[in-house]
Amino acid sequence: MKSILVTGGAGFIGSNFIKYVLGNTGHSVVNYDVLTYAGNLENLVDVEFNDRYKFVKGDICDKDAVTEAVDENGIDTIINFAAESHVDRSILGAEEFINTNVMGTLVLLQVLKEKGLSKYLQVSTDEVYGSLPEDKPELKFTESTPITTNSPYSASKASADLLCNSFRHTFGLPILITRCSNNYGPYQFPEKLIPLMIAKALNGEDLPVYGDGKNVRDWLYVDDHCSAIMTVLDKGKDGDVYNIGGNNEWYNIDIVKLILKKLGKGEDMIRYVKDRPGHDRRYAIDSSKIMNELGWTPAHNFEDGIELTINWYVENKNWWKKVMSGEYKNYFEQNYGSKMS
Ligand code: NAD
Ligand code: TYD
Repeated sequence: MKSILVTGGAGFIGSNFIKYVLGNTGHSVVNYDVLTYAGNLENLVDVEFNDRYKFVKGDICDKDAVTEAVDENGIDTIINFAAESHVDRSILGAEEFINTNVMGTLVLLQVLKEKGLSKYLQVSTDEVYGSLPEDKPELKFTESTPITTNSPYSASKASADLLCNSFRHTFGLPILITRCSNNYGPYQFPEKLIPLMIAKALNGEDLPVYGDGKNVRDWLYVDDHCSAIMTVLDKGKDGDVYNIGGNNEWYNIDIVKLILKKLGKGEDMIRYVKDRPGHDRRYAIDSSKIMNELGWTPAHNFEDGIELTINWYVENKNWWKKVMSGEYKNYFEQNYGSKMS
């Protein structure tokens, strides 16, 4: 059995991943998270007393603290989810993205090397591949698509991937990289498209759609991302990159209309707002490598996944209402204040 340091385990995907690991494997997990605005221990109340789970508050940029967490808990594996993860925030200010996503990854790689751990998995994103043309629907991102970074967020994630490659190449360390498309599901911070639109519709507020609403994203249910990461951890080839996607492309506007329909609300709540600067037009992932080489397939189709997700936000209003108070409000004012005027 493994003893895994899950960094960023109090966020959206990390908290779903911890529950997935505890529920589907015998591994132990230490959740190492500094608890930024996106970190929420309420995501993990169901497992906080599980014998195989422990929370340690700490910053991935703090090498002494990471080393102590590794030593004290007999860690043999690191899975790095910790990141600043929202493109719009990276446009408002990139420093934290470079600190956490680049410098933090460097610290984790140094600890991997110094402690001789047996595995490191970097949770990356399809955004490192840039944007696909609209008029070539047959084109998708493969693992050999050149890195093209269009936002400070994607630049920071790509930098981290390049550091991982360099530590693999130079020191021969056991490093894997996964690059997933957009996730959706329970516990996603309501600054990202799907939970934001559900929350706003339930609150009776306008739904802000950027630009013409025709940007395309490839959506994957979060549990399927978790099963893919476990598959790569168990069977992936060290040094390799694995793309993960849902083969499920949607125009943003169609997702927004679907959410409104499912909630019984009218399309008059849609408000087209100023576009995101540098907005990537289309993401689409070719997952044939992980499917053919490692035998992974997603368990959820979009119809089931979106139903589960909308129902979860309807039934857990307290969760997102609490999250949306406080710091989030300042961000909302900064990001949408000028777009909506
Ligand atoms: P999130 O923003 O919901 O959570 C990030 C977590 O990292 C939070 O708990 C936060 O407190 C923690 N964190 C931030 N800085 C830290 C630091 N310096 N030290 C320790 N912890 C820190 O993010 P998410 O959506 O769950 O994404 C998780 C990972 O998956 C990220 O690396 C992201 O780039 C990647 N990813 C996300 C998506 C998506 O659709 N959300 C898709 C592909 C890849
Ligand atoms: P987001 O969830 O921020 O993910 P990403 O930018 O990493 O793909 O946004 C998904 C898409 O939805 C993206 O094209 C931007 C768009 N969007 C809106 O139209 N309105 C919004 O308020 C937000 C947050 C996103």
